[in-house]
Amino acid sequence: MEHRMPEKPVTFRQTLQMRKDFVGKSCKLHFEVAPLKILRASRQYLYDDTGQEFLDCVNNTSHVGHCHPHVVGVGQEQMSKLASSYGFLNEQTALYAKRLVSTLPESLCVCFFVSSGSEGNDLALRLAASYTKRPDVICLDGAYHGNLGSLVEISPVRYKKLGQGHQKKDWVHIAPTPNVFRGKFGSNAANPGVLYANEVRKVIQKAEQQGRDIGAFISEPVISASGMVVPPENYFQNVYRYVRECGGICISDEVQCGLGRIGEHFWGFQMHNVVPDIVTIGKPIGNGYPLAAVITTKEIADSLGDFSSTFGGNPVACAIGRAVLDVIENEKLTSSAKNVGKCLKDGFKAIQPKHPMIGDVRGVGMMIGIELVMDKESKKPAKETAEILAYKLKEKKIIIGIEGGDKNVLVMLPPLCFTTDNARHVVQAFSEALANIESEAARVGLTNREEIVSDRPMDVPLDVITDQTTINVHNYSDDEDDAEDDDPVAKRARYEEVD
Ligand SMILES: Cc1ncc(COP(=O)(O)O)c(C=O)c1O
Repeated sequence: MEHRMPEKPVTFRQTLQMRKDFVGKSCKLHFEVAPLKILRASRQYLYDDTGQEFLDCVNNTSHVGHCHPHVVGVGQEQMSKLASSYGFLNEQTALYAKRLVSTLPESLCVCFFVSSGSEGNDLALRLAASYTKRPDVICLDGAYHGNLGSLVEISPVRYKKLGQGHQKKDWVHIAPTPNVFRGKFGSNAANPGVLYANEVRKVIQKAEQQGRDIGAFISEPVISASGMVVPPENYFQNVYRYVRECGGICISDEVQCGLGRIGEHFWGFQMHNVVPDIVTIGKPIGNGYPLAAVITTKEIADSLGDFSSTFGGNPVACAIGRAVLDVIENEKLTSSAKNVGKCLKDGFKAIQPKHPMIGDVRGVGMMIGIELVMDKESKKPAKETAEILAYKLKEKKIIIGIEGGDKNVLVMLPPLCFTTDNARHVVQAFSEALANIESEAARVGLTNREEIVSDRPMDVPLDVITDQTTINVHNYSDDEDDAEDDDPVAKRARYEEVD
C-alpha cells in the first residue's frame, strides 16, 4: 500500500519561517544570520537547496562519512526486519555489545545502550552514585556534557549562559580546565599536568572539609567545548590517582573523541595512559543514527538496581553500530585520522607565524582547534573575528565550527573520510580569509583590533567597518517579508500550501 503523500516543494523561505514559528527559539542554528538549508550529504560534503556543495569540517556525527552506503544498507535491511525489540532477546544488541567491549581494556566489559550522549552521561552519573554511594561530582570549568538537567549542572560553559540566576549545585565541584595556552598557570609553566592535577586534589580536599566526599570525576580526554584543549602529560594519571585515593571513580566522556578520531588511538583516554571506570560514547557511533552507550566494569554495572530504555539498544541502532565499526576497520579510518589530522595541524601551524590573530593551534588527530586572539601578547579573545571568519569560509563553501568559552576557537571535527587535499584546501582558504580580515583592518587604520570588534552588533561588525558586505544576510527572496503574527491559527494558516 502506498502511504506516501505527493510532496509539495517547501521553499527556503517557508522552511525558515516554519522553524521560526514552530521550533523553540533556544534551538540555535549554525549561521544564525544566513542559515543553510541542507538537503542531502555524501561522504564529507553537504548539498544545499540550491545544489551548492560545501566541505563539512564539523560533522563528527557522520563519523565514517555522510550516508555511507554500507551503514545505510545495513540500517535499511534491519529496519525492514525488526526495528524494536524492547524487552526481548535480540542478537543485534548482543553482537554489538560483544564487539564494542572488544575495543576496550578488559576491565570495561559491560554495556548499557541509550540513544544520546546526554542519556549516556546521565546514566554514568547514576552508576557512579550507586556504586560509590556518593552523588558528588568534579567537572572542569570549560566542560559540556549534555542537555539533561543533571548534565547542565556539570557543564559550566552551558550554565554560565543561564545567567546570574543559576546557582551551582552543592554536589557539583569545579576544577580549572588544564588549558596550557590560556589557563591559570600561563603557557610557560613547568609540569603543567602536575599543577592542574593538584587543582583537582585541592577541590577534593575542599569538598571533604565541607563534609562532602567525591563520587566521580568526569572529563573528556580532549576538551572539545573549550576548543579542543588537549590536557598536558601526566594530568589524567595524577587526577585519576587522587580521585581513586579518595574513593571516587573516573568517567571518560568519549562522546566527541572516541572511535578513532584522535588517530593514534581508538579511544581518547588511551592517549593519556589511563583506564577509566566508566566510558560514555555517542555522536559518531551511529553515524547519524541515534545511538549511545555506557561501558563500565562488572562491579559498577551490578551496583545499579534497575535500568530500562525503550529505544536504547534497538536492533536497528545496534546493526548500524556494528556497520560503523566495520567501516572504520575496513577503510582504516583511525590511521587516516592520524595522517590527515597531522596534515591539517601542520598546515595551520605553518600559517600561524604570518597571522597576528592566530594565538594557538592545537588538537590531535581529526580534532583541531585554532584560537583567534586580538594579538599574541594580550591573548584577548577575538570572538567576533572568529564568527566573521566562519562566515567567510562559508562563502568559500567550507563549513567550520566555533567553540571555546569565549567562542573564539575555530574547530574542525570532520567525517574521517576527509582527505589530505581537503586539509590543504581548508588551510589555504582559512589563511586567505583571515589575511583579508587582517589587511582590511590595517587598511582602515584600525591597528587596535579591539576597536574593530567592540560595540558592534553581532552581524557583520568588521564587514560594516570595512565596507565589505560579505555575509549574505538574506539567503532568500527579499520581496517576501518576515511574518511576525504569533497567533497559532494564523501560523497554521500560513502553511496550508505545504501541508
Ligand atoms: C562531550 C559531550 N558529551 C555529551 C554530549 C551530549 O550528547 P548528545 O547531544 O548526543 O546528547 C555532547 C554533545 O555535544 C558532547 O559534546
